[in-house]
Amino acid sequence: MSIMTKIYGIEGLRVLVTASTRGIGFGIAKVLLENGAKVMINGRSKEGVLKSLERLRALGEGRSYGIAADIAVKEDAVRLVREAASTLGGLDSLVYVTGPPKPGYFSELNYNDWEDGIRLLVSSAITLAKESIAFLKESSNPSMVFLTSIAVKEPIPNIALSNVLRISVHGLVKTLSRELAPMGIRVNAVLPGHIETERSVQLAADKASREKRSVEEVLREMASDIPMKRLGKPEEVGYAVAFLVSPLASYITGAFLPVDGGILRSV
Ligand SMILES: NC(=O)c1ccc[n+]([C@@H]2O[C@H](COP(=O)([O-])OP(=O)(O)OC[C@H]3O[C@@H](n4cnc5c(N)ncnc54)[C@H](OP(=O)(O)O)[C@@H]3O)[C@@H](O)[C@H]2O)c1
Repeated sequence: MSIMTKIYGIEGLRVLVTASTRGIGFGIAKVLLENGAKVMINGRSKEGVLKSLERLRALGEGRSYGIAADIAVKEDAVRLVREAASTLGGLDSLVYVTGPPKPGYFSELNYNDWEDGIRLLVSSAITLAKESIAFLKESSNPSMVFLTSIAVKEPIPNIALSNVLRISVHGLVKTLSRELAPMGIRVNAVLPGHIETERSVQLAADKASREKRSVEEVLREMASDIPMKRLGKPEEVGYAVAFLVSPLASYITGAFLPVDGGILRSV
C-alpha cells in the first residue's frame, strides 16, 4: 500500500528521530523527508546508519543526516541530541523511538534483563527529553513525540519489559506536556499496534518456536486478530507522527494516539 502524503507545515522542520535505521523509526524518517523536513536518523552501528542514509538519499538530498549512538547509554544519548542540533542548525522536534526490548514472560527475565530494559525503555527517554528542551525552547514550532506501544494499555503476554516499563514514558509525556506547555512545547505519544518490521517477525518467530508452529501461521493469526485484518506499515505510524509535529496539531499536547488498525478494545 502506498499513500501519497502531503502534510502541511513540515517543510524545513529540523527533526531528530532516534532508533531509525530500520523499522518504525525508518518509516517515520521517510514520511518526514517526503514532506520536506530535515531529518537526523540514528542507530547503534555506523554501517547501519550509512546504509539507511543511502536508502533515504533520493527522498531528502541534502536533508538527511545520521549519527551512530546507543540511546541506552547516557553519554551517547546526550551526544546524539547535541550533535543533531548542531548539524541541523537547531531542533524543532524530538521523535523518540527506541530499540526493541528482549521479549519474554516476567518469570523468564532475570535482574540484568530488567536493568537493561530500564536503560533502553526509560532512562533513554528521560535523557533525550532533558537534553532536547534547551534546543526546543528556541524553536517556533517545538514538539516531542514518544513512540511507545499498545502494550501500555493492554499488556501483551510475551513482552513483559514493554508492558511494565513503557508506562513510565506515558507518565513522562503527561508530566512534560503540562510543564512545557507554557513554553509552547507540545509533547505527545503514539502507540503502535502490530507493525510489519523485523521486530514483529522476531516476536512471531519467538511465539512460533514456543508453540511449535510456523512463523507464517503465527503472522496470519496476528493479522486475523486485528479488526483491519492486516499489520500496519511503518509509514502509517510516520503519518501520525508527521501530523503531531506539524502546526496542524498546534493545540494537541499530552495526547496518546494509537495507530493499531483498531486492535485496542479499551474505551
Ligand atoms: N513492530 C511492532 O509491531 C511494534 C509495535 C509496538 C511497539 N514497537 C516498538 O517500536 C520500537 C521499534 O520497533 P521496530 O519494530 O521498528 O524495530 P526494528 O525493526 O528492530 O528496528 C529497531 C531500530 O532501532 C535501532 N536501535 C535498536 N537499539 C538501539 C539503541 N539502543 N540505540 C539506538 N538505536 C537502536 C536499530 O538499529 P541498530 O540495530 O543499528 O541499533 C533499528 O534501527 C521498539 O521499541 C518496539 O518494541 C514495535
